[in-house]
Amino acid sequence: MPVKKFAVIGNPVQHSLSPALHNFVFQSLGIDAEYSIRKVQHTQLSSIIQELKTGKLEGINITIPHKEKIIPLLDNINARANAIGAVNVISRFGKNLTGNNTDWYGFSKALEENAITVQGREIILLGAGGASKAVIFALKQLGVCKIYLLNRSVEKAEMMSDEMISPYPLSMVDALIHSDSIIVNTTSVGMQTSKSPVDLGLLHKNQIIIDIIYNPLETPLINFGKKLGAKTMNGLDMFIWQGLASLDLWFGVDISKQVNFNLLKEHIETKLC
Ligand code: ATR
Repeated sequence: MPVKKFAVIGNPVQHSLSPALHNFVFQSLGIDAEYSIRKVQHTQLSSIIQELKTGKLEGINITIPHKEKIIPLLDNINARANAIGAVNVISRFGKNLTGNNTDWYGFSKALEENAITVQGREIILLGAGGASKAVIFALKQLGVCKIYLLNRSVEKAEMMSDEMISPYPLSMVDALIHSDSIIVNTTSVGMQTSKSPVDLGLLHKNQIIIDIIYNPLETPLINFGKKLGAKTMNGLDMFIWQGLASLDLWFGVDISKQVNFNLLKEHIETKLC
């Protein structure tokens, strides 16, 4: 039997830790498979689809900027991925390719594991891109009562507005934030920079501060929140849970329950330092 091949496709993608995650799982569970990085332009998406249909690739993860553009090339879209409007994992059943979304699950599971309850709460959500859509899906499932959706380009937030989501420009954050707010950052601000999407002076020890960025593990937002004594959560647990959920889809069994989560997390943390 040829070794099963998996990959993450994106651009830029070279800093992805998905290979570290998946290859650790394959090695620790003795699965004959390998996972690589593929830098892919928009024009190359159809050849990736061919590689999946012919079995050269068994499954893929999709990251920036292809999560939405890949959708028309697939045979089926799972209902949740369809509702979110983004696909981050593709599974193959013969020549039939199905798109799914495990980002929302990763976020929900990370909240649960970090004992963060959002039910009945109002959320200050920063960013209105693809990641924000998956987070919104999770927050709605978990029963939040209102989402203040703040984005630099307010028109993108306005397009996502509904009975639960109120759109605002990011510059209005100081008027909306409270000393006990739950703040979730889905913008890319803080990724490999020392910037914060909001003025750190708006942070308070009674807030819950969540950043879905995992590289670095401590963005300025998380770092300052921790110093104040606020409850914080970085993006690493979300990243790991979305990856494990992808494996469950590809192999049709609960790989996620067979893996030692803490050892896997330690392994990925060594790649981040
Ligand atoms: P992802 O799939 O990770 O969500 P994305 O769809 O490109 O990536 O979205 C990136 C998000 O980060 C957007 O909300 C973007 O704001 P704009 O819609 O105004 O571009 C936000 N973002 C990126 N750089 C930013 C910056 N310097 N300041 C504020 N927001 C920023």
